[in-house]
Amino acid sequence: MYFELTEEQLMIRQAARDFAQTELKPGVIERDEHQKFPTEQVKMLGELGFLGMMVSPDYGGSGMDAISYVLAMEELSKIDASASVVVSVNNSLVCYGLEKYGSEAQKQKYLVPLAKGEKLGAFCLSEPEAGSDATSQRTTAVDMGDYYLLNGVKNWITNGNSASTYLVMAQTHPEKRHNGINALIVERDMDGFKVGTKENKLGIRGSDTHSLMFTDVKVPKENRIGEDGFGFKFAMNTLEGGRIGIAAQALGIASGAYELALNYSKERKAFGKTIADLQATQFKLADMATEIEAARLLCLKAAWLKDQGLPYAQASSMAKLYASEVAMRTTVEAVQIHGGYGFVKEYHVERLMRDAKITQIYEGTSEIQRIVISREVLK
Ligand code: CAA
Repeated sequence: MYFELTEEQLMIRQAARDFAQTELKPGVIERDEHQKFPTEQVKMLGELGFLGMMVSPDYGGSGMDAISYVLAMEELSKIDASASVVVSVNNSLVCYGLEKYGSEAQKQKYLVPLAKGEKLGAFCLSEPEAGSDATSQRTTAVDMGDYYLLNGVKNWITNGNSASTYLVMAQTHPEKRHNGINALIVERDMDGFKVGTKENKLGIRGSDTHSLMFTDVKVPKENRIGEDGFGFKFAMNTLEGGRIGIAAQALGIASGAYELALNYSKERKAFGKTIADLQATQFKLADMATEIEAARLLCLKAAWLKDQGLPYAQASSMAKLYASEVAMRTTVEAVQIHGGYGFVKEYHVERLMRDAKITQIYEGTSEIQRIVISREVLK
């Protein structure tokens, strides 16, 4: 078993680290405070190939492996989790699904600009009354022959206003329950599509989370992904990879907070020595470092399984479950180590603490991950 990264993986990690320091760090506090989407930074991420990292170069992507994706996600998330969720959704939930299950025409028309970062995508599964219980889709896609008539509301959609390509799950055959759901590609300028309210969030405030409304939207039949009724399996399979991205985001939030706490503890003096000289701080740092390393190994293992073409549903849920809980614990402790300074924005850790919480909620709550894991272990 090798734990070493390749030259290429190391280069990608360094490139993401440099980008985060030079392009994301300046302005991150302001974007968080004013809920400002990182438009310029996302454009640059696209030009550098971070928005279609794992897509084949044949379709405009960078052709990298999932391990590189985890490394990049960790580095970007250390500094700005609002920008990294854009990277994660576009890569894992949109490009991956289109490349794996889309028709050749869909790939040429939609995947290429998404992978090149010329356009952004959104994944639309959640509804006001269908979050964890994803089979209970109320949005309908009535089969009208050449097209589907789409009606309904989606909630909590990341990239809701910045996307131009939306993968929308909707029910076509209610009597077949989850086997009646379809995944449709909806374009932003289709008649009847409307972007709703922007959510005023606790964390990842720089990302744009919106509700979406569909009123008699005519979606051409050729925009359906896969066979009739494949939409739920499409969504579940896509989320397996998405959970690796969010696990790596949680890992980055944790390691970002840990690095800040480590550095601060070596500078801050109290009782005639640095607080790093106090055993109370040392034990906290030891626990944080250990848990972060365990989370990192889970993320890399899940990515490795995916790269090998092996099943990874259980591994990705384990990585997400554990890394998100580590992110929460680590960021709370990082604020504690900073004392009063940790409570003010300039020191970054309070933002990381707020950002950590969403990693236990989106792309399946911690409870959903436990359902997936327990089903696998009880098989
Ligand atoms: N791949 C392929 N098929 C799968 C699958 C997978 N990973 N998981 C389940 N399926 C299939 C099952 O085999 C089953 O098929 P059959 O009927 O043919 O046997 C079918 O899907 C239904 O599966 P279940 O019976 O397991 O369904 P369930 O109702 O018990 O739900 C669940 C399972 C795990 C709870 C699922 O509903 C789930 O994951 N819920 C959470 C949804 C979620 O993560 N939402 C996040 C929204 S996206 C988001 O947050 C993005 C963002 O903007 C950041």
